[in-house]
Amino acid sequence: MTILAIDTSCDETAAAVIRNNRVISNVISSQVELHKKWGGVVPDIARRAHAERIDAVVNEALKRSRVKLDDIDYFAVTYGPGLAIALEIGVKKAKEMALKQNKPLVSVDHMEGHLLSSFAKNSLGRNPKGPTLTDLPAMGLLVSGGHTELVLMKDFGDYKIVGETLDDAAGEAFDKVAKMLNLGYPGGPIVTEFAEKGTPGSFDLPIPMENSGDLNFSFSGLKTACLYKIKDLKKSGKFKDQKLWIHNFCADFQNSVIKSLVIKLQQAIAEYKVKSVFLGGGVIANVPLRRAVRSAMKKSRVKVYQPYSPKLFGDNAAMIGVCAYYQIKRNDNMVLHDKNRIRELDRDPVLQIRTKD
Ligand code: KG4
Ligand code: ZN
Repeated sequence: MTILAIDTSCDETAAAVIRNNRVISNVISSQVELHKKWGGVVPDIARRAHAERIDAVVNEALKRSRVKLDDIDYFAVTYGPGLAIALEIGVKKAKEMALKQNKPLVSVDHMEGHLLSSFAKNSLGRNPKGPTLTDLPAMGLLVSGGHTELVLMKDFGDYKIVGETLDDAAGEAFDKVAKMLNLGYPGGPIVTEFAEKGTPGSFDLPIPMENSGDLNFSFSGLKTACLYKIKDLKKSGKFKDQKLWIHNFCADFQNSVIKSLVIKLQQAIAEYKVKSVFLGGGVIANVPLRRAVRSAMKKSRVKVYQPYSPKLFGDNAAMIGVCAYYQIKRNDNMVLHDKNRIRELDRDPVLQIRTKD
């Protein structure tokens, strides 16, 4: 089956063409340049940019795939979670196309997309390091700018969120701390680069929720601790001499986030006795995080999977198409979030999954 998928959940306008779970094309138009000067995503700007770009992005995905619009069997779109006014643009476009082509439209949960992103295969159907059914049950560690979640996956469509952030997401913490340090947006890649040049251990930052006894995360305390440390640096006049301390500061911050994620992941795999871990979300671009996860899981003999390409780590539509493929296969519209919203969509004849008979 050939699927055209769209995602406009945050600040990336994305479209992809998928054949079963193979990624034929994957186009992502990033809005980072537009939001940069504001230090974060501005919803109105995001909406306008999605509206301006969606047609071109969809056309480019079709062009690169060399698939004709008439040969698309299903349309798929992210309905949530994400920025409501941004999501609407993708949903509207997908609905219009599905109606015009008289083909079914599948609504996809953005986080299920991140969870299943390791199952994506390249255009030739290759992903030798990818997971199979024998790797289930698995624990998804999903870390992005909007979410930090531990999701138990027993089967396709059988998911349970067993831990999540009580406040900021891990990526958001990277972005906010980078802002405090005047390092620009998005913070993740810059903080990582600075951390590489530093050594952790000089700033005594807390490891969030280390002993909370549950599987939830919280990064606002760490963020506040960073704010106080920066205030101290300003008071003592050292702040200006960033070269002397900023690399070590970033190393300490990154270390605290990674430790917090790994500790909870270790607790989760012990509690739920899973066979593998699936990594997803923009923050998994962080190499020290992946290394720490792999090293901790090796000790527990749990396999670790990640998408075959970094283009599938952050927001993209290929993961939405892959997710739609598994939904269509099981004839189900199971979602992780917002059950009411999906019921509402299910009543909408256009958004219902209709299998061909
Ligand atoms: O999944 P994603 O592209 O978008 C959301 O759904 O939010 O994730 C974006 C987040 C941003 O907060 C960004 O700072 C973070 O991922 N990020 C990183 C790295 N690269 C991107 N965080 C830590 N280390 C990185 N190398
Ligand atoms: Zn995302």
